[in-house]
Amino acid sequence: MPPDLQQMMEAHELLRKFYHHLLVNTKDGQHALEYLLNRGFTMEAIEKFQIGYSLKSWDFVFKFLTKRKFPADVMERAGLIIKREKDGNYFDRFRDRIMFPIFDRSGNTIAFSGRSLGDDEPKYLNSPETAIFNKSKTLYNFHLARPQIKKLQRAVLFEGFADVIAADRAGVGNGVGTMGTALTEEHVASLRRNVQSITICYDSDNAGIEAAYRAANLLTEAGCQIRVALMPDGYDPDDYIKEYGEEKFRHEVIDSSITFMAFKLLYLRRGKRLQNEGDRLLYIEEVLKEISRLDKAVERDHYLRQLANEFSLSLEALKEQQKQVYYTEK
Ligand code: CTP
Ligand code: MN
Ligand code: MN
Ligand code: MN
Ligand code: MN
Repeated sequence: MPPDLQQMMEAHELLRKFYHHLLVNTKDGQHALEYLLNRGFTMEAIEKFQIGYSLKSWDFVFKFLTKRKFPADVMERAGLIIKREKDGNYFDRFRDRIMFPIFDRSGNTIAFSGRSLGDDEPKYLNSPETAIFNKSKTLYNFHLARPQIKKLQRAVLFEGFADVIAADRAGVGNGVGTMGTALTEEHVASLRRNVQSITICYDSDNAGIEAAYRAANLLTEAGCQIRVALMPDGYDPDDYIKEYGEEKFRHEVIDSSITFMAFKLLYLRRGKRLQNEGDRLLYIEEVLKEISRLDKAVERDHYLRQLANEFSLSLEALKEQQKQVYYTEK
């Protein structure tokens, strides 16, 4: 490894430990610790995920690393400090934030994400792309989850840090996070190398449902078997676990996940008023299209019957209609 990269990793390693120490053992970190405990993070999770706190200071990191002989340009290229245009002085990127270390798959700390304690924007401030941190390749918690993923032959995909961590506490240790960014082809490839069955458990809000639909398509195209875990409107996994508990999360969210086809049906219904004839016909047509795409005749039959039942239509009419839809598709 080039000496620069080695130094960048060492700087991250040192800071991870120090941020964690500040959170857990110091008065400066006390408000941050209280914030986390109030949110339902346990000391065990804070340890396991090495969560920390960055001081409310403009130059703590700069001084801390300078004392340990790290060159400023290395710190800057590692994304830990920022050079101010007007006077060329450096200042720390992360100040007064809860620090989530981001690990590579060998467990090296390669980046941080800092959550603001109040309503400061952005809510999460992330390390930039650097020589050691490629965001589109990195999945949060992959290094800890991988043995579980192998064992269970299933991975669970979450949006956020708090979701991965709360799920882990609830006994779902095979979870990884996309850290808000859209799932990339590289994420898909590295998941697919390790596992075929994936449960998508994104936030049950508009953005989460759209992202889940997109992720499900990408993963299916890569040959994965998808299930989608849903929560009541507006909840994310962390909120859900806090409100309903760990057991309910395991049983009613993760174990009650639905197939991609069932999710598509819900997805296609969104925003439609099925008592309205136009919306209803559009829905039926869209569903027929999806049914035609299913590989297995038994499945096609199952969903056709379900559709016929729901709208009191004859199977013959649906099949007739399906032919039309199918040919116009082609
Ligand atoms: N995210 C980010 N930058 C932001 C907002 C979000 O990088 N400004 C990423 C984070 O990884 C976050 C994930 O997107 O965990 C999901 O975003 P969101 O659902 O908005 O946040 P939560 O994870 O629910 O955050 P919290 O529970 O701490 O409020
Ligand atoms: Mn510790
Ligand atoms: Mn979200
Ligand atoms: Mn969320
Ligand atoms: Mn949340």
